[in-house]
Amino acid sequence: MDFSAGKWILIGLAMLIASAAVGYFSFAPPVESPPQAVLDDPVLLEGRSVFMSRCVPCHGAAGKGNGPMAASFGGEQVGDLTDGKWKHGDKPEDVLRVIRVGVSGTRMAPWGALLDDDQIRCVAAYCYFLSALPVPESLREADPGPAAGPR
Ligand code: HEC
Repeated sequence: MDFSAGKWILIGLAMLIASAAVGYFSFAPPVESPPQAVLDDPVLLEGRSVFMSRCVPCHGAAGKGNGPMAASFGGEQVGDLTDGKWKHGDKPEDVLRVIRVGVSGTRMAPWGALLDDDQIRCVAAYCYFLSALPVPESLREADPGPAAGPR
């Protein structure tokens, strides 16, 4: 193989890689970065990360109740978390309870076994954020619990 043929092969390869990269970045799902208000708030940042990994399939990324799984629920409403009119109440203990024990007879599962108390508290706070409600102070305080002590 003479030098010029090798050069063209290299150029061809480089173009192939470049077009694959362009294709990948234009078709990969956009990774939305969190809004500044969330970036500035550790509780909301943690809550968002739990919400994005656990709740979005049903509740949708914005909490509107239109997640990708929700369409297959045959009429069962996931409910809109963003209107501040929560069926099960809008006090922090209501939201914590729904997340912890679920809603029996619906697809809202109990998350108490999968998420720890801090994750539940933070994702509850994130529900308030989705509704544009102020985050209750009680959701900002980690409950040290009876067994807590110096580690
Ligand atoms: C498999 C689907 C599914 C997943 C996953 C899910 N939910 Fe739900 N969620 C529901 C449904 C359905 C309802 C409505 C229950 C009802 O009608 O009472 C609901 C209701 C709620 C409510 C009560 C809303 C109200 O109006 O009172 C909250 C809060 C909530 N979910 C938070 C979460 C959080 C936080 C997560 C993630 C940790 C989550 N959900 C994951 C299906 C889901």
